[in-house]
Amino acid sequence: MEPVWQHVKARDAVWHAGTGQHEICRAARFRPAIPEENRHPAAVFDPQPTTAADKTELYLHLETQFRGLLDGERDPLANAANLAAMLYHALPDVNWAGFYRLRGDELVLGPFQGKPACVRLPLGKGVCATAAERKETVIVPDVHDFPGHIACDLASRSEIVVPVIHAGRLLGVLDLDSPVPDRFDAADQAGLEHLAAMLVEGCDW
Ligand code: SME
Repeated sequence: MEPVWQHVKARDAVWHAGTGQHEICRAARFRPAIPEENRHPAAVFDPQPTTAADKTELYLHLETQFRGLLDGERDPLANAANLAAMLYHALPDVNWAGFYRLRGDELVLGPFQGKPACVRLPLGKGVCATAAERKETVIVPDVHDFPGHIACDLASRSEIVVPVIHAGRLLGVLDLDSPVPDRFDAADQAGLEHLAAMLVEGCDW
């Protein structure tokens, strides 16, 4: 296997277990060899596995990566933030990935990656609210054809929203947008539902 640090993007932080300090390297080629025990899972996150032959394999890889990010950490906000970042950087043709949390009768913006987004989504309108109300994943091949779709980024053309449910109670939704029509399919649904379940299991709510 290639040394993990070759995959880490320039300016990513390397976590030193001994000192608790983060070191910022300006370019991967200047990166010093970091001993294995000092590599925090977030620093060795590999967004582009060269071996993934298809989506299913890519999601299996992401489950392994996310397991590493969850290890030893049960804070919901921190883990949701890392899941959003992982998905945004790992999945091709995705321009927004993040969470909305159920608060009363609306969905309120949570951790995400992408352009700034609508902060509050009322239940009863839009793709996120539909998934929340049905407690089922919703895939929208073309957002222009979805009545009530709420456009946060005009570049978005397709969308998938996965409900996040703990012990039967809806916590919120995981939302991904793509600038490509018909970007999301059953393999994305299965992979994202599994990652959302890992998040639910891996946190204290
Ligand atoms: N399109 C969503 C709104 C959220 S943004 O896509 C980030 C909806 O219709 O609910």
